[in-house]
Amino acid sequence: MPESTQKTCRIDTTGDPDCLRLLQLTDTHLCAETGGTLLDMDTDRSLQLVIAQALRERGNPDAVLCTGDLSDRGSRAAYQRLEGYLQAIAAPSFWLPGNHDDRGEMLAATRDKHRLPGEIRGGQWQIIMLDSQIPGEVGGQLGENELQRLASTLEAGRQEGLHALVCLHHQPVRIGSAWIDEQMVADAEQFWRLLDGHDSVKAVLWGHVHQQIDRHHNAIALMASPSTCVQFAPGSTDFKADDKPPGYRWLDLCADGSIKTGVSRVTDAEFTVDLESGGYL
Ligand SMILES: [Fe+2]
Repeated sequence: MPESTQKTCRIDTTGDPDCLRLLQLTDTHLCAETGGTLLDMDTDRSLQLVIAQALRERGNPDAVLCTGDLSDRGSRAAYQRLEGYLQAIAAPSFWLPGNHDDRGEMLAATRDKHRLPGEIRGGQWQIIMLDSQIPGEVGGQLGENELQRLASTLEAGRQEGLHALVCLHHQPVRIGSAWIDEQMVADAEQFWRLLDGHDSVKAVLWGHVHQQIDRHHNAIALMASPSTCVQFAPGSTDFKADDKPPGYRWLDLCADGSIKTGVSRVTDAEFTVDLESGGYL
């Protein structure tokens, strides 16, 4: 298990003491060079527009969660630029790796040794950051170590009466798009068996699917969010990009265990995207 995932970071509720205010930015896919593109979209530009809109609409959050595919090809320069763009937000940011990322390069690029924590605590909440990456593969898997860490972290939180938000990159449920459902968390059955035994878990949040999803698994909210760049079309058998604009998700984690959340997209700018592309790898 990487040493960094053993760490717990603490954050403060700065605005409303009863509410932890979060901003999720996911699948930023920054390239090695500034202005590099994914399916013809300039991913530096789209991320900067998303950040500016999030600040306009929501103000500074208490923390930013970046849920993977932060660089398109795991380049250190991309992570360094990401860190620079995130400086526009007066809040700590926490990252977890996606299939496009390189954990070693992420850690090498950042000036903050707490950038990839295993757990974040703030208010009445614990946010558990899981690593679903299998190096060199597109699909995800948690594996025995991460599942064990999830179990022990949840148990520690339960003893302190904390509510839990679980974050990872890959989707732990089928979303209804055959091509990307092949890449879902391989050991999702064990994951859900574990979560079903913990009433403290209020929500699971992920990236990877480049689209908004708001569903429930029993009492647990399931959330996926737009990429800050290219979107994927829901319900598609084969890879298909969507013409929806880039966006972000905000989450307010309330002291009573309830969650307020929403997605917002950049609608006041034009974006180029190759809708005929058969893939993005
Ligand atoms: Fe992605």
